[in-house]
This record gives sequence, C-alpha cells and structure tokens, in this order.
Amino acid sequence: MEFDNNILKGLMAKLEWQLNMGVEAMVEEKNNYFDREKTNIFNKDNSKKLEISQKPIFSKLETETIDKNSDHQEMLENCLTLDDLKIYMLNFNGCDLKKTATQLVFSDGNPKSQVMIIGEAPGAEEDRRGIPFCGASGQLLDKMLNSINLNRNNVYITNIIPWRPPGNRTPNENEISLMKPFLMRHIEIVSPKLLVAVGGSAAKAILNIEGGILRHRGAWKKIILRGGLEIPIISTLHPAYLLRAPNQKKLAWEDLKSIRSKLEEFKR
Ligand code: URA
Repeated sequence: MEFDNNILKGLMAKLEWQLNMGVEAMVEEKNNYFDREKTNIFNKDNSKKLEISQKPIFSKLETETIDKNSDHQEMLENCLTLDDLKIYMLNFNGCDLKKTATQLVFSDGNPKSQVMIIGEAPGAEEDRRGIPFCGASGQLLDKMLNSINLNRNNVYITNIIPWRPPGNRTPNENEISLMKPFLMRHIEIVSPKLLVAVGGSAAKAILNIEGGILRHRGAWKKIILRGGLEIPIISTLHPAYLLRAPNQKKLAWEDLKSIRSKLEEFKR
C-alpha cells in the first residue's frame, strides 16, 4: 500500500500535537465518557465480587446525569449497596477528572473482608483496566499484603479518587473534598473492621491531618461513622513511594506487623 507523503506528514503533525498536549493513551469508543450516553455498570472483574441488590434503586438513573450541585448526602444515603453506589458514581458528572479518565475505577477485592485499603487515585494501568492497584505499585502492594497473609480475597481495595488525574498528578484539595462523601459512604456500606490509608493523600483525606505521612504512619487512630460505628485506621507508606525509596520498606514492614497484630486481636 502506498502512502501519500503529505497525508503521512499531516498524521505525524497531529500525533506530535497530541503528544505535546499530554495525550498518553487512546480511548476505546466503548469507554469514552465524552460521547457515551449509557455506561456499563460493572466491569467484569468486579461483577462477581459486588453484592447485587435485589432492586438496585438507582437503575433508573442510568442515562441521567448528576452534577456537582445535586443533593448528594440524601442521594448517597439512599445507596444501600455497593452496586447502588457504583451506579450513582457512574452517573456523577461533577468532577472534571471523569472527563479525562478512561473509566471509573471503583474497587477490587472482597467487600466482605475485615480490611479495607484506601489508596490515592488510579494510575495509567488502573485507568486502562478499571481495577485499583493493578500496576507496578499494585504489585508491590500485593507483596506487602501477602507478607501478612492478606490478598485480594481477604481485603477490599478502593481509592479516595475514582478517576485517574491527568498525567498522574496528585489530586487537589477541591477534588478530594468533592469525592470525600462518596468515599465515606463507601466505607459505611463495606463497614470493615479496620482501614488502611495508603499514602499521605489518603491519610490526609480521611483523617484531616496536617504534615507528612512519615509523621503519622504506623499510629492507630479511629474514625467514627454516622450512626456511631468506630473503625480503627492506620496509615502507611504508599508502594509508589517505596519503589522510589526502598530503604523505607522497613517502616512499612512495622505497619504491616501492626495490622497483623490488630487482626489477631479480633480473633481473641
Ligand atoms: N496508586 C494508588 O494510590 N491507587 C491506585 O489504584 C494505583 C496507584
């Protein structure tokens, strides 16, 4: 097949322009939030693990949009199951991160677990596959969990932000506070026995703490949910940080041992 040189040059110029604009991946039509009207409610990997309510109360919203000004708190309280919450989030259009992400990254693991792990936000691989912590830092997270006999069958994993920030930047305070009610409802629905905040952004978002993660990691605190349920929470170092600073792994190991001891306490 012969190519016209001018067409080729034109295509190269378009590609170069997209690269300069920060485009890193092509979005498949079926995952494109810009022109898609209907959303696919469950990705394959999560469908088996999520509890499907008998009557999903939000199914009627599949093609409606929910913006920043919708009355969240009441709507969120009406989300009684994870599939209600996921549908609600799929229909939420108040966060600009959704526009640049490929898809919502809701959760992975077992929602009946005692342990709920909360990271920061999806990266490129998570955005592509729709699964939290499935890239390089996820592989290290899995190894860390395995070292204390935990894995995705006995932990539940989500992030404070469900859409990948462009270029993997850190989510800003507005984005975090906008999405926090969704996270808190997520925690309420799962009602785990303990929470692990992975990295400074997650620790700050949940615990409203000042200062870096190195100051707060390893200390058990409590969050109190509406209705009074108290859940112990520990924060630890993010695996992405540990990949850059492997000499800090000993601190993360201390935190993992502390999680293991806490789980032992529950057995007594
Ligand atoms: N980092 C996170 O905090 N979460 C992910 O899901 C992936 C990388």
